[in-house]
Amino acid sequence: MAETRYEDCIYKNPNAEVELRVRDLLSRMTLKEKIGQITQIERRVTSPSVITNYCVGSVLSGGGSPPCEGAESSHWADMIDGFQKAALETRLRIPIIFGIDAVHGNNNVVGATIFPHNIGLGATRDADLVRRIGAATAIEVRASGAHWAFAPCVAIARDPRWGRTYESYGDTETVCKMTSLVSGLQGDPPEGHPNGYPFVAERKKVAACAKHYVGDGGTEKGKNEGNTIVTHEELETIHLAPYLNCLAQGVSTVMASYSSWNGDKMHTHHFLLTQVLKNKLGFKGILVSDWEALHRITDPPGLNYRECVKDSVNAGIDMVMVPFEFERFISDLTSLIESGEIPMTRIDDAVERILRVKFIAGLFEHPFSDRSLLDKVGCKEHRELGREAVRKSLVLLRNGKDPEKRFLPLSRNAEKVLVVGTHADNLGYQCGGWTISWFGHSGRITTGTTILDAIKKSVGSSTEVVYEEHPSEETLSGHNNFTYAIVAIGEEPYAETFGDSSELEIHFNGSKTLKSVAEKIPTLGILVTGRPVALEPTTVEKVEALVAAWLPGTEGDGIADVVFGDYDFEGKLPMSWFRTVDQLPMNTDQADPLFPHGFGLNCKKD
Ligand code: GLC
Repeated sequence: MAETRYEDCIYKNPNAEVELRVRDLLSRMTLKEKIGQITQIERRVTSPSVITNYCVGSVLSGGGSPPCEGAESSHWADMIDGFQKAALETRLRIPIIFGIDAVHGNNNVVGATIFPHNIGLGATRDADLVRRIGAATAIEVRASGAHWAFAPCVAIARDPRWGRTYESYGDTETVCKMTSLVSGLQGDPPEGHPNGYPFVAERKKVAACAKHYVGDGGTEKGKNEGNTIVTHEELETIHLAPYLNCLAQGVSTVMASYSSWNGDKMHTHHFLLTQVLKNKLGFKGILVSDWEALHRITDPPGLNYRECVKDSVNAGIDMVMVPFEFERFISDLTSLIESGEIPMTRIDDAVERILRVKFIAGLFEHPFSDRSLLDKVGCKEHRELGREAVRKSLVLLRNGKDPEKRFLPLSRNAEKVLVVGTHADNLGYQCGGWTISWFGHSGRITTGTTILDAIKKSVGSSTEVVYEEHPSEETLSGHNNFTYAIVAIGEEPYAETFGDSSELEIHFNGSKTLKSVAEKIPTLGILVTGRPVALEPTTVEKVEALVAAWLPGTEGDGIADVVFGDYDFEGKLPMSWFRTVDQLPMNTDQADPLFPHGFGLNCKKD
């Protein structure tokens, strides 16, 4: 039978019903082309020939992984468009979908606006703010050529010893509210949009990804990729709840969790992946694996890999984030299908879901980057939004040794002020993990305003600002007449398992610095951390004021806006702040925290 001219194929027609396009295209695909769609590879092993030879359907950049050192959006767009050109040269011209961890802005890209990490956004309780952040992030992601953001993380962090606590918005109720990021990233689905059916509004929007399904934040002792031991009811009421909100907003993809539920790995959990998420809740988008997650099903990783491919794909994984050994994956998957160990119906279901999201995201009509968006990257409007988010995320934990004599807001016209601490003038520390690189790192890693920059801009011209990262004895000797001191301390950047901590101490002897300064000078302590950390009661008693700033990102001005009184504090703790680590896990219903869930002072005169 003569092959239909490409232009006449139903799937090529943008006005045809999505489901008709899906079915038409699926009917034309060979097994090799279907397997290619299920395969997601990392950009470091991707080339035009790999895409055309293996019909690869998706590419990602893992944490960081830029096209070149210091890459800006245009470099990213050049790389992704190059891959896309190759995809459009394949027989059926199916575009790739490129995914990236844009988890607090388009954070891999130099010059992008970096918003506060989720723990700080949870402190705002402001769903509309998070929606607007999603919209700004989507624009900056599309400017870089990517189509898919692996966000929001809707984990419920139940134990701050978990290295990914900062990726959580906090407790279940707060996380459910903050799923508004989905509508920000994808656009608001129209009235009557079917629950669970993917939605991406237009070219300034991206496919979102609710992750990590399900129970990633509830593991024993906060061990990353560990075991969440809860009843079925607790799993539903604590950890599953935000997924319902995401499905109601048409979230296009869901990422499975590395973790286990009562000892059973999520990536091979047919009941939760297929019976609950797809059949009961009606999810019609892509269920994607996590990075190398199929290798990690076994201990040691990679054992019986073919079995892991069989068990995870049969359990409901639609797309596999391989991400490097794609020949082995493709070979194993091909043999599993040819042997009947994975039924063709399962493969067709997975490919339908992938094609559905690609059609809905408009990739067939607009496969390449929209360079007109480049001037929106890190633009004033987005940075003002970031500044607003920082302001609203700050939680005032203490304000005056004598509650009658509030210490904040600070005077802008003090004669002489001391600024101290490892986190006072360090943009990388302010941004935390998942910024420019996977872990994040110290220093001027991108464009932004540090806490010190912001203080200097805020105080009067007659105020002398003395900055010492580590205050000298001479400075603290008491002969320097400082009106007040601002001490910014916290955690160094980390990501995933590397952030797991049993002691939760402030890094670089920050507590000691805070105490030594507070003993000599009236002091405001600013904590730049991804979670509640261990605070010595004596230190807390010695400071005049204490603010949890979380990981605020590039817009340090937001901190000065509040500590100098242009705005009042609004933030409320999204999780309890423990007194000592041996109290952990401590959740919202526990007694005797240092500061309870929902706590947060303000400067208003009551
Ligand atoms: C990581 C994370 C996941 C991320 C993915 C791609 O290991 O678990 O959150 O989206 O790999 O970078």
